[in-house]
Amino acid sequence: MRKLEVDKILEKNGWSKNKIVGILQDIQDSYSYLPEDILIYISEKLNIPLSQIYSISTFYRAFSLKPKGKYRIKVCLGTACHVRGGYMIAEFLKNKFGILPGETTEDGLFSFDTVNCLGACAIGPIVVINEKYYGQMDVRKTEKIIKGLENEKNKQF
Ligand code: FES
Repeated sequence: MRKLEVDKILEKNGWSKNKIVGILQDIQDSYSYLPEDILIYISEKLNIPLSQIYSISTFYRAFSLKPKGKYRIKVCLGTACHVRGGYMIAEFLKNKFGILPGETTEDGLFSFDTVNCLGACAIGPIVVINEKYYGQMDVRKTEKIIKGLENEKNKQF
């Protein structure tokens, strides 16, 4: 485990059990998910029952207990994006990857999830890939970006 990194996060949050949500958010940001060994470590260090940490971890949709893919794709299905075709993009990704929202492809390359309004309705439908926003998306544009990412992977081998 990366104790030093985790200690820095705990330090930043004042080693306070009252800041457990913020601590989990920082862990999620650093590792793209909440590794079990780190949750156990936090539980011991802050004297919080592990069951309570798991309860918080599963309550918030932003947290994941499983590793996410290298490319984390979110499709907005808020009303404005949905009516402009966001649902077609989500269907395309489900079929392309053979996974459901919240899951990751077996090769660990792509995670896919749906989200509600991201606050950029005017340029919807929105697709977010690793925090980068793509506006006015459709299936064709999404497919092109995915192909580009897959090609990048193939070049590395
Ligand atoms: S509905 Fe998608 S950004 Fe608002």
